[in-house]
Amino acid sequence: MRRVTRPRRLALRAGLALAAAASLLALRAAGQPSGSANQPPPAIATAAGATPQQIERGRYLAAAGDCVACHTLPRAAPFSGGRPVETPFGVVLSANLTPDADTGIGRYDNDTFYRALHEGIDLDGRHLYPAFPYPYYTRVTRADSDSLLAYLRSLPPVNHAVDRNQLHFPFNIRALMAGWNLLYLDKGTYREDKAQSAEWNRGAYLVEGLGHCQACHTPRNRLGGPKADEAFRGGRFADWFAPDITPNRHAGIGAWGREAVVEFLRSGRNVHSGASGEMGEVVSFSTSRMTDADIGAVATYLASLRPSPMGTVAMAANAQMAQGEAVWKDNCAACHREDAKGVPRAFPPIASSANLQQRDATTVLHYILAGARHRPIDAAPTALAMPAFAWKLDDAEIAAVATYARNTWGNQARPVAPDEVAELRKRLAASPDATAPWPPEIRPAHDLARPGSATWSRAGTDSRDNGTPRAGSAAP
Ligand code: HEC
Ligand code: HEC
Ligand code: HEC
Repeated sequence: MRRVTRPRRLALRAGLALAAAASLLALRAAGQPSGSANQPPPAIATAAGATPQQIERGRYLAAAGDCVACHTLPRAAPFSGGRPVETPFGVVLSANLTPDADTGIGRYDNDTFYRALHEGIDLDGRHLYPAFPYPYYTRVTRADSDSLLAYLRSLPPVNHAVDRNQLHFPFNIRALMAGWNLLYLDKGTYREDKAQSAEWNRGAYLVEGLGHCQACHTPRNRLGGPKADEAFRGGRFADWFAPDITPNRHAGIGAWGREAVVEFLRSGRNVHSGASGEMGEVVSFSTSRMTDADIGAVATYLASLRPSPMGTVAMAANAQMAQGEAVWKDNCAACHREDAKGVPRAFPPIASSANLQQRDATTVLHYILAGARHRPIDAAPTALAMPAFAWKLDDAEIAAVATYARNTWGNQARPVAPDEVAELRKRLAASPDATAPWPPEIRPAHDLARPGSATWSRAGTDSRDNGTPRAGSAAP
């Protein structure tokens, strides 16, 4: 079960000036009558009539949409809400999606639920914030929306009131989102492209809709709006950079091949990379639960995207490269190997790694500062870890080793400055991960002051402590 409290940050924070401009613009827009937002909600229907097949289908679709990730707090009942999700305007807490009539979605019917997914309007006609990825869920068909509701209504109701809107003025005014929607919501159910195969269309439906891959993998402007002409070319999300996943052979996943993409989405690892952090959650709670046919469809659609253009990058200084090589030999080569080719599915290769060659080095620096741990899956229950180096290496050393790794063995990416390391170090140290009372099985390696429990095991640790609850259960 996923239990993570870390806020999901939707996009960059708006600068003050821009925020003011935006609110003016949005207030103006909010003054216009906005169709359904002003209509009274339709009469309340009952859940009666949902078939077991529909509920099962809804369970599958909820996994494809990764609903549980945002809608569950550590140790709390699944879907009972309250997880902080960051937006450019501040933090919004997620809603209680259990069928409790007072605090959950118990009074939603098929029409109002579809309207919530489709237009970001709640039961009472108020605007929801795009921290809830309705700009993508708008592609979901009516039949799928009905199944999702049937599933959610089959859950045990949990009475958990969430004070969701903790934004500051003026962003606490939900009507402002009418302006945001005018600019960025492209409302409408997925429309099939008849020129493409059924598999391609299925992949597009999943990626552009429930999978909401663009929510992280597409860069955003200062108002949190997606840069449509740079779709899938990589975007900042929380303290990670979700890399370019277009078929660019250098910075994207163009050199992976279909089988490798499928393996990554199914298991979180392949010979090229491993899924951690935000993507680790996406794999555990969403893509690994998709059918092989659906994962294949996602891979087919991704392969058809237009590759991002090859950029040119500044050369790194010789002194920084020399320092980086020394740090690499001492600290990294033992696991990732001297030639940086790694050990397949255990220690990811650094040579020709797309993650390494992004224009934004956040993910690389995150790995080095805080370490990382494979997300265990039932098929591979042992969570291999990379130790945190924040306690050991200073900003200049980390910038140097990152720059060296980004520019050796055929890799090419702009050099990293020590300031970037200092900034991320500060943000990670302040993150709730550093202090949260984590259940031991998912405690992240975020204690930046010394090596963390995620990087070593106590003597006498039972190997079943490593990984999923079922890990080791097959052993005699
Ligand atoms: C990236 C995080 C995120 C994901 C993923 C997500 N949600 Fe939400 N959801 C939120 C947040 C945050 C809110 C509260 C928004 C607000 O109050 O404006 C919310 C609100 C809602 C609401 C409105 C509830 C109410 O009481 O009015 C519904 C319905 C909903 N989500 C359904 C879903 C479903 C179904 C899925 C999966 C298909 C899903 N959400 C996935 C973050 C998320
Ligand atoms: C919540 C944010 C988020 C969402 C949603 C998300 N990703 Fe990711 N993804 C990331 C981050 C961050 C990374 C980089 C860290 C890593 O590799 O583990 C990543 C890495 C990847 C990689 C590996 C790239 C490489 O070069 O190693 C692939 C492939 C990928 N994502 C595909 C997808 C697909 C397909 C979807 C939609 C089904 C998706 N992602 C949805 C955040 C996200
Ligand atoms: C004890 C072994 C170990 C050492 C030492 C180590 N790493 Fe790692 N590294 C790993 C493991 C395991 C992963 C995969 C983690 C995951 O997928 O969550 C990883 C992942 C990475 C990644 C992400 C690659 C990708 O695309 O998924 C980068 C970048 C990285 N390491 C860089 C470094 C650097 C730089 C050093 C030295 C400062 C270093 N590592 C030292 C074990 C190690």
